[in-house]
Amino acid sequence: MEELSKRKQRPQILLGVTGSVAAVKAPEIAVRLVREFNAHVRVLLSAGGSNFWEKAEEYDKENWDLCQDYITGVQTSDSAESSTKGAPIQLYSSEEEWKGWNRLGDPVLHIDLRDWADIFLIAPLSAHTLAKLAQGFCDDTLSCVARAWDFGYHSTRPAKPLLLAPAMNTAMWQHPLTFQHLQTIQSFVSIESRQEGEKNSIRIIEPTSKVLACGEVGMGALASVDCIMAEMADVLAISPL
Ligand SMILES: Cc1cc2nc3c(=O)[nH]c(=O)nc-3n(C[C@H](O)[C@H](O)[C@H](O)COP(=O)(O)O)c2cc1C
Repeated sequence: MEELSKRKQRPQILLGVTGSVAAVKAPEIAVRLVREFNAHVRVLLSAGGSNFWEKAEEYDKENWDLCQDYITGVQTSDSAESSTKGAPIQLYSSEEEWKGWNRLGDPVLHIDLRDWADIFLIAPLSAHTLAKLAQGFCDDTLSCVARAWDFGYHSTRPAKPLLLAPAMNTAMWQHPLTFQHLQTIQSFVSIESRQEGEKNSIRIIEPTSKVLACGEVGMGALASVDCIMAEMADVLAISPL
């Protein structure tokens, strides 16, 4: 933690939130990223994630309120030397992409978000978005960011960390496609970044076993928020921001 507080620059973390019921934990994740890493956080909802975002208020009112305070700027983060202006948490969905683009030359949201982010954390990652990312489909802003993500190919742009925290029903998790998709995504680490010794630029934060929201007991629940924070701390400790 001491190392992190010495950083000159505040980490800019893009938090992708997809249509798993665990998306109700997204406000807590966003708030903790601000508080524990002094991060700027942009929350990007997939279409599925948008269905769950508002439900977080009922699930965890305390973190929902804190998150709203960060979004509206009522609550600011600790650092006076902010590298990016604006509220510590900003909220995006695919709708903004088209609202903000009217003609050639206008900014393109998924490219701007890709360029802005030091780290892309998708938590929770649904089975559907996992499949899209593995196959290269990009029909919303979140999957466009992932498709355009910097994996360090041809050494033109340095690789940036991508952290994936899947969350789904046990049968979905145990389906052979899940393993195949995760393996495919891990193979996206560029040869160039491997040669340069960049470690773990793609990380899977394994789900855990518990009583799932559907009532079944088994593997597939989102990793604990503590576990996600620990993984982020590890990535930040080795990432040259
Ligand atoms: C109540 C409810 C809970 C769901 N929970 C999950 C889940 O935990 N994980 C998952 O992969 N899909 C879950 N789904 C299905 C996804 O929401 C659906 O596949 C959606 O298309 C995902 O969209 P996205 O990947 O674009 O976010 C759930 C659906 C409903 C209606």
